[in-house]
Amino acid sequence: MRDVAVIGIGCTTFGEKWGTSFRELFLEAGALALEDASLSGEKIDALYVGNMSAGRFVEQEHIGALIADYSGMASRHIPSTRVESACCSGSLAFRQAMIAVASGLEDVVVAAGVEKMTDVETSTSVDALAAAADREWEGFVGATFPGLYAMIATDYMNRYPLTREQLAQVAVKNHYNGARNPIAQFQKEITVETVLRSALVADPLRLFDCSPITDGAAAVILAPLERAREFTDAPIRILATSQASDTIALHDRRDISTMDATVAAGRRAFEMARLTPSQIDLVEVHDCFTIAEICAIEDLGFCQKGEAGRLTEEGETALNGRIPVNTSGGLKACGHPVGATGIKQVCEVVQQLRGDAGRRQIDGAEIGMTQNVGGTGASVAVHILGRA
Ligand code: COA
Repeated sequence: MRDVAVIGIGCTTFGEKWGTSFRELFLEAGALALEDASLSGEKIDALYVGNMSAGRFVEQEHIGALIADYSGMASRHIPSTRVESACCSGSLAFRQAMIAVASGLEDVVVAAGVEKMTDVETSTSVDALAAAADREWEGFVGATFPGLYAMIATDYMNRYPLTREQLAQVAVKNHYNGARNPIAQFQKEITVETVLRSALVADPLRLFDCSPITDGAAAVILAPLERAREFTDAPIRILATSQASDTIALHDRRDISTMDATVAAGRRAFEMARLTPSQIDLVEVHDCFTIAEICAIEDLGFCQKGEAGRLTEEGETALNGRIPVNTSGGLKACGHPVGATGIKQVCEVVQQLRGDAGRRQIDGAEIGMTQNVGGTGASVAVHILGRA
C-alpha cells in the first residue's frame, strides 16, 4: 500500500443555510478544497461523497451522479460514489478514498460529505435520523436518537461517577471552542447553568446536551504522499484508518455504556499507526450528545472507564488540557450535518496540524485523531493523521 496524504481541505460554514441548495453546499466545499490544494478540477480522478439521507431531507437520491454532474466532472466520466453509513458516512467516504489512493488504483481523489437537514420540520429530521437505529425494534416503538442516548446516559450515570454538572461541562467546553471557530453553527460561550436550565429533551439530556440540526458540507483532497509536495508545502499524512461495526439495536449490546465498535476501531488504528493514546495531541470525537463524548474518551483509551467526567471537570480535555477534545466545537457547537461531520473532523485536525487553527490552535500539534459514529455505535470509523 502507498502512503497517502491530505493535500487540500474546504468546509462551508455550518448552520441553517436556507439560501444555499444541497448541490451548492457541496460545490462550495469542493471549490475551497481545490483552491487550498492549488488544483483544478481536471486533475481529480475520483469522488467519494458521504451522505446519509438526502432522499428524506431534500428528496434527492443518486448523489454521486448529481455531484459529478454539477462539479463539471461528469463530462470526463470520472467515477463518483456515494457512501452511506448514517452519521459516519463522511468518515467512510474518507476511508474509501484513502484505500483507493493507497492501492494505486487512483491518484488524486476527493473525499467529501454533505447534508442539508433544515429544509424539513424538526419532526421529519428526527424521524429521518431515527432510521439509523433499528426501525423495527427501536423506531417503531418511539425511540428517537435523543431517547436512545438518554438510555446510555442513564445507564452510565447509574454505574459510574458522572454528575449532571460534569456532563454539562462537555457542552460548555465545546461551545467555548465553537466560539473560536468561524465556521461553527453556535459561536457563543455558555455556562453550566445554561445547560441545566435548558429544555428537557429526553431525561437526563437537555437541549444543550444535544447536537443541533445543521446544513453543511466539507471536502478534502487526497494524493499519494510521494506526490503531495506538487500541491502543498504542508501535506498531512494519514497514519491510520479503521472501521468497526456492532449490533444496530442498543438492546442487543453487551454493555450500552461502552461502545465496543469504538474500542475495536481505536485499537486497530493505534496498531496501524504504531502509536498509543498518550502520543495523540488532539482528538475530534462524535459528541452527538454530551454522553457520547464521555464514552468516546474512555473507549479510545484516553482514560479509564468512569474517569471522563472528572477529566472534563478538571479541564484536561480543554484547549490547554492534557488531551484537547473537539477543538472545532464538536458536533455540539460546530454543528452536525450528518453526512459531512466525519470530513469536517478531518478538516479540523488538518488545520491544527498545519498550525492554521487561529484562536483555538493547540501549540505544536503533530498528531491528531478523529472518531465518527453511525447511529448509537453500529458503525464507527477512526483515523489518525500526522504532520508529514
Ligand atoms: N443546542 C443549542 N441550541 C439549540 C439546539 C441545540 N442542539 N437546537 C436548537 N437550538 C436553539 C435554536 O438555535 C433556537 O434558538 P433561537 O430561538 O435563539 O433561535 C432554539 O433552540 C429553537 O430551535 P429549534 O430549531 O426550534 O429547535 P428544535 O426544538 O426544532 O430542535 C432538538 C431541538 C434538540 C430536537 C434538535 O436539535 C435535535 O433533534 N437534535 C439532535 C440531532 C440528532 O439526533 N442528530 C443525530 C445524532 S446521532
